[in-house]
Amino acid sequence: MASFTSRRDFLRQSGKAGLGVYVGLSGSALLTACTAAKKSVTSTVSHQDDPGFQQHPLPYAYNALNEAIDAQTMELHFTKHAAAYATNLQDAAKAENVDTTKPLEEVLQRVSKYSAKLRNNGGGHYNHELFWKVMSPSGGTAPTGSLATALTSSFNSFDAFKTAFADAGKNRFGSGWAWLFLDGDKRLRIGSTPNQDNPLMDVAEVKGYPVLGLDVWEHAYYLRYQNKRPDYIAAWWKVVNWEYVQKRYEAAIA
Ligand SMILES: [Fe+2]
Repeated sequence: MASFTSRRDFLRQSGKAGLGVYVGLSGSALLTACTAAKKSVTSTVSHQDDPGFQQHPLPYAYNALNEAIDAQTMELHFTKHAAAYATNLQDAAKAENVDTTKPLEEVLQRVSKYSAKLRNNGGGHYNHELFWKVMSPSGGTAPTGSLATALTSSFNSFDAFKTAFADAGKNRFGSGWAWLFLDGDKRLRIGSTPNQDNPLMDVAEVKGYPVLGLDVWEHAYYLRYQNKRPDYIAAWWKVVNWEYVQKRYEAAIA
């Protein structure tokens, strides 16, 4: 696993592309729009914990998160679903001449230039590698330090944040993800994306750097919770690895 050290420009490519929407503006309107666009590219994606293109070992046993997720679900999720995303991503990357020595995050930031296969499996691989890390059998407490302060500042309280984040997951129609992410001003935001999209992507419904992600595909919870996605989300808080989320947040705002 990479260390939390380096920094890179944030949404550099999508920021450049975003300038295109301002064609037709002039004078002060154009200046205002360009100022806003410049601001959106000044934050960072640090690539400090980029997963690359290979699946990494699960950092705990399949039954380690049983308080929230049963062992069979974890095993199927990791060895079938997530493994397939990694394999298919490697196939797509090879077919599309992607330099796999570069961070996967750089590819996702300009994923509109690639195929649907690369988008779906690149997102699927990235999202699941993050998902395993934001959970831990010793998780479930509450964030501390700068993340706790930022959550309170952004959402009024930790409980209010949890409610809003859970709502993002509950209200995602069909398959997708709920996210806590940093926008271009390094402010914490909550949002969701369909399928295997994530906020890094230039095609995403919400854009920024993901700090915490929750898989709300049925394959993540159906064996134990059937159609009761809210029950899965309520239990999931018991295994959130706030120590990792805190480190990820701190590295991104450094
Ligand atoms: Fe999943």
